Amino acid sequence: MWSIIVRALFFITHWGDELLNVGIHGGTEIDITESPYMAALHITVPNDTHIRQCGGSIISASHILTAGHCVLLKTDDPNSRQLDIEDFLVLVGSSKYDNSDKRGEVHSVEKILFKEASHMNDIAILKLSENITLDDKTKKVIQLAEKSYIPPNDTHVHIDGWGENPENSINLHRAHIFTLYGGGCDLVGDHNHQICTWGVNSSGPCLGDSGGPLVTDDTNVQIGINSMSLHCPYDENELAIFTNVAENLDWIHSVLSNQEDTVTPEKTQTVV
Ligand SMILES: *[C@@H]1O[C@H](CO)[C@@H](O)[C@H](O)[C@H]1NC(C)=O
Ligand SMILES: *[C@@H]1O[C@H](CO)[C@@H](O)[C@H](O)[C@H]1NC(C)=O
Ligand SMILES: *[C@@H]1O[C@H](CO)[C@@H](O)[C@H](O)[C@H]1NC(C)=O
Ligand SMILES: *[C@@H]1O[C@H](CO)[C@@H](O)[C@H](O)[C@H]1NC(C)=O
Repeated sequence: MWSIIVRALFFITHWGDELLNVGIHGGTEIDITESPYMAALHITVPNDTHIRQCGGSIISASHILTAGHCVLLKTDDPNSRQLDIEDFLVLVGSSKYDNSDKRGEVHSVEKILFKEASHMNDIAILKLSENITLDDKTKKVIQLAEKSYIPPNDTHVHIDGWGENPENSINLHRAHIFTLYGGGCDLVGDHNHQICTWGVNSSGPCLGDSGGPLVTDDTNVQIGINSMSLHCPYDENELAIFTNVAENLDWIHSVLSNQEDTVTPEKTQTVV
């Protein structure tokens, strides 16, 4: 039963148009040099008025790790279909979502890789057409969690994103949050699959921040991919759910070494 509820929440929180323009809450502005592994995904939905946005992380010179739902079109759209690679642009190296600081590098996408044809396995990798010019300062590969790593309760972590924020800024923002077992995070039963977090005073990710990396404060290692935010930004202690990176490490490495099994995602699914 929980899986149905989680699935429904997934769609309510991620596909609700009324919430489309809210992002990192309770956070502070940061420079890209503090988060050089961040990538901004610009997604142009055909015949739609808005540009969808997501975050991602640089995991090799030519690969961006993101959430699976970031690369699927809204399911109740009459033109529902898988997004094409032409619909994506990836911006790296800039603190501004629109690259107005002119420090960034814009990349097109050559291939989209899914682990499984499932919304619940919320992970995807974008293979870029050309390599990022890594420079260690504004464009850098992130370190991923070790295999089978499960964060203990109350691990101090942070999430970065360009989702619209209360200040209406296009600058990259960071919110410090905490992993949580139990409490409102009871709905996550299996911490192998998903990591749940909470934030004080509704701090945390919201729409537009999906796909962004969950990173440990002390070691700067990516442990999660932002998958869902529950009730953001209205809840006092905002909850968010992340795909556990460690559990997907074998698949990620197979993609990086070009031995992946590409799966086409389900195109339409009526859930809510
Ligand atoms: C988008 O709109 C154009 C022109 O109105 C139409 O020709 C095209 O078929 C539409 N594409 C989709 C995917 O609906
Ligand atoms: C792109 O980067 C990869 C490492 O991720 C490297 O193996 C490859 O040679 C690079 N390609 C080019 C054209 O520089
Ligand atoms: C996890 O840590 C939080 C904050 O310290 C605490 O309130 C909660 O009870 C802990 N959960 C478990 C299952 O120990
Ligand atoms: C949360 O908000 C309350 C009320 O504005 C404030 O007193 C408190 O210091 C805030 N807590 C944190 C950790 O920011």
